[in-house]
Amino acid sequence: MDKSCINIGILGWGTVGTGVSKILINQNSLISKNSGVQLSLEKVVKRTLPASREGIELPPNCLTSDPAEVVDNPDIDIVVELIGGVSEAQTLITRAIKNGKHVVTANKALLAEHGGELFQLAQKHKVSLNFEASTAGGIPIIKTLQESFTANQIESLYGIVNGTCNYILTEMNENGVDFSDVLAEAQEKGYAEADPTLDVEGIDAAQKLSLLIALAYGVNLSIDKFHVEGITDISKKEIQYARELGYVIKLIAIAKLTDDNRVEARVHPTLVPERSLLANVGGAYNAVCVIGSAVGPTLFYGQGAGEMPTASAVVADIIDAAKSVKNGIYPSISHAWFPDVPAEVSVCPIDDIHTRYYLRFVVIDKPGVLAKIGNILGDYNISISSVIQKEPHDTDTVSLMMLTHKALEKDIKTALDQILKLEVVKGGVKLIRIEEEVDF
Ligand code: HSE
Repeated sequence: MDKSCINIGILGWGTVGTGVSKILINQNSLISKNSGVQLSLEKVVKRTLPASREGIELPPNCLTSDPAEVVDNPDIDIVVELIGGVSEAQTLITRAIKNGKHVVTANKALLAEHGGELFQLAQKHKVSLNFEASTAGGIPIIKTLQESFTANQIESLYGIVNGTCNYILTEMNENGVDFSDVLAEAQEKGYAEADPTLDVEGIDAAQKLSLLIALAYGVNLSIDKFHVEGITDISKKEIQYARELGYVIKLIAIAKLTDDNRVEARVHPTLVPERSLLANVGGAYNAVCVIGSAVGPTLFYGQGAGEMPTASAVVADIIDAAKSVKNGIYPSISHAWFPDVPAEVSVCPIDDIHTRYYLRFVVIDKPGVLAKIGNILGDYNISISSVIQKEPHDTDTVSLMMLTHKALEKDIKTALDQILKLEVVKGGVKLIRIEEEVDF
């Protein structure tokens, strides 16, 4: 069956939905020239009507408040889900797939939780479920992992995939502002959500990592199965100390294949060398570094959010699905990405990772303190690579910063338990993991 004009229905007319409608209408002939497919935006669903948007005029009868006019409409070929959230989006996507429609979504939370079942359903109904915009906005990292790196074993990947956190950390680093002040400013500028919890607690980044891991390693890993730590405990003092040691603090989503064929997965604030490319990804920008067995290190950089960058990724997915509809060829969805069979690789628990550490203790400034701490670290095979102590000002305590060589996380934790029992150590310890492999 050759279909000359492909009909699109969009669920949700918020920021990204508006961007998608702008491209589909204002760039229609460019899309047709570039891709050979003719797209027609037939329906846009917005819960509350009337509604209008600057820079776009929808065709008559296009706007509706009823999602059934998209998901149950026999004239619609491709459903674009941009309402976000899990429950309603899942219901509507499931209905659309069962009605034989191809689906495009930007919904990382939904796929991180229910990707397995939705992909199997899509396969059963011979439709595609494309999700480029779910991770790193306009950066084409999903397609790259699905198509361009298939000749590679992915050795590791490192992502700055949350623009809000990167904006906050960049401001703290460059302008010496406190977390709470810059968060308020980010909210004012519209970078951060009114409830920024998902961003600053690392959950948004973890959902994206879960999708990247599914593609890179064929493991369907929900975010409660790996270590997730946000940036709320990072102070401007920590950022300044890290800089003095030659590092920048970034929220990094990390996945690695270990020598014994396990997958290390974690999201946490990370010290990266200040000269590395990742350290220099500033503001609300995203970057994903993928190290492949054949290709070596690669880096993808761009805007991870926002109306038009995210819409760019959504429309690329629409065009891919439209080509399938036009040619009557249904894409085969690889089982490997969202397997319904037990994964071949297991997850490496955080206690089993080997990495370098930044440790900051607050200690009494008197003879023998450094030796006591050093001895305990030595007992657990932890080697110190550098130490800085700040001269005391008004108090008798000082900050003592140490960088370690690679050590086993379990050993670090046991050693720290003992160090914190020393009476010369006041308060807790600040631990931030270091990643050197990103140094290119
Ligand atoms: N809240 C995300 C971010 C954008 O700050 O990067 C959507 O994924």
